[in-house]
Amino acid sequence: MDGTDAASPCGVGDPYSDPLKPRVVLPGEILEAQELIKAGIVRTPCTPSRLSDRLGYDLYFKKDQMQYTGSFKDRGAMNVLKKLSAAQRKRGVITTSAGNHSQSMAYQGRKLGIEVTVVMPVIAPQVKVQSCKSLKANVILHGDTFDEAKVHAMRIRNEERLLYIDGFDHPDVIAGQGTMGLEIMDDVPDADYIIVQIGGGGLIAGVSIAAKYRNANVTIIGVESERCPGWHTASKNHGPTVCYQTMTGARQSLSDGLNVARVGYNAFATAKVDKLITVPERYLPVAMLHLLEMEKAVVEGAGAMGYAACLSGKLPEITGKKVVCILSGGNIDANVLVEVIKRALVNEGRLSRFTVWLGDRPGEISALLKVLADLQVNVKDIDHERSSVRSHVYMAIVCCTIETRDSCHLSAVRGVLSGVYGEHLNWDLSKGLTQKATSS
Ligand SMILES: Cc1ncc(COP(=O)(O)O)c(C=O)c1O
Repeated sequence: MDGTDAASPCGVGDPYSDPLKPRVVLPGEILEAQELIKAGIVRTPCTPSRLSDRLGYDLYFKKDQMQYTGSFKDRGAMNVLKKLSAAQRKRGVITTSAGNHSQSMAYQGRKLGIEVTVVMPVIAPQVKVQSCKSLKANVILHGDTFDEAKVHAMRIRNEERLLYIDGFDHPDVIAGQGTMGLEIMDDVPDADYIIVQIGGGGLIAGVSIAAKYRNANVTIIGVESERCPGWHTASKNHGPTVCYQTMTGARQSLSDGLNVARVGYNAFATAKVDKLITVPERYLPVAMLHLLEMEKAVVEGAGAMGYAACLSGKLPEITGKKVVCILSGGNIDANVLVEVIKRALVNEGRLSRFTVWLGDRPGEISALLKVLADLQVNVKDIDHERSSVRSHVYMAIVCCTIETRDSCHLSAVRGVLSGVYGEHLNWDLSKGLTQKATSS
């Protein structure tokens, strides 16, 4: 098969991910994996967070963004590669991912002397593409989505007779990811909840089986991006199916690692999910900023999704409980991180912009700056616009970027400025800087 079956563009032709014979991964396989990979992965901490006080529950973060390649995927990659036969190792492997699984395969493959080819969608973050290249993988960029990249990888697999390793559904990958569940339960044996983000489902499958094996009372909460609810779609349809309708939005999500249209057959058959929620994109930047400021942790969108779920208001039951949240990856382009921080500051009322029409005469700006200074507002940027104010030669538009302490401080500032400048003030910059000027 060439992998172009329209009903299932990602699952065809992989004997390790068979829709007709889904394979349930057992706790024993995870225990075996732990032995096999313990020398090659980082034993990451799972520690209490200072954010607990403000949230009203005991929050722990499992910091798996501290793995060598920056994500938990090192676990599954090492397990699956170590279990290959000598003949399979010699032939080499091919895989697809938005980047984290590819990096881990490249890293572990290099250590074991196995040639790894990775097919990544062209929109994969640069930091992940470069990392795969520097780890000496054969990198092929193809397609706009994970699914298009996978179809291409299957084609190459058939032509070059390579072994395809699915990044979330190969049973040995799932078992490897499950080792994180064992570590969490070693560190927080009485955890009430573990919050796990879902892409293709390998992580939640492994972690849920391992955690419940150690403590049957732990509740597993699965979290998906609202833009790519593959597990919800699978639950509704009693089995993994493609959530096509979401793909346009999924392409643009900050949680690129979670943009998998169809979750894994083995993962779906294996996982024990007690509650499932979707989280809107807008919670991600704020979650990532909190992790930077309070945990000193650089976490990518997919990696912060579990904590974003905590902020979403969709989990009232965790109040007063012991909750473990997984920080699953930290690979984010620096320029994207800058945008994330700015948007998070805006969301939190700490950074904002307004325009105000002022008379074009001495003293007007200094009066504005005095009002702002009296309110303890820091001016980050100030700019004038005259030429587009066509109907008022004696007026200028001043655009100010300001820094405030929080949303309470900002609303006080807005109140005072409205009192002083009334209808000459505009906070909604989406309407355009000079709309009033050009329309009057
Ligand atoms: C950082 C990060 N977190 C979570 C996931 C989801 O893992 P899974 O596809 O096994 O559900 C991924 C998948 O690539 C990821 O990169």
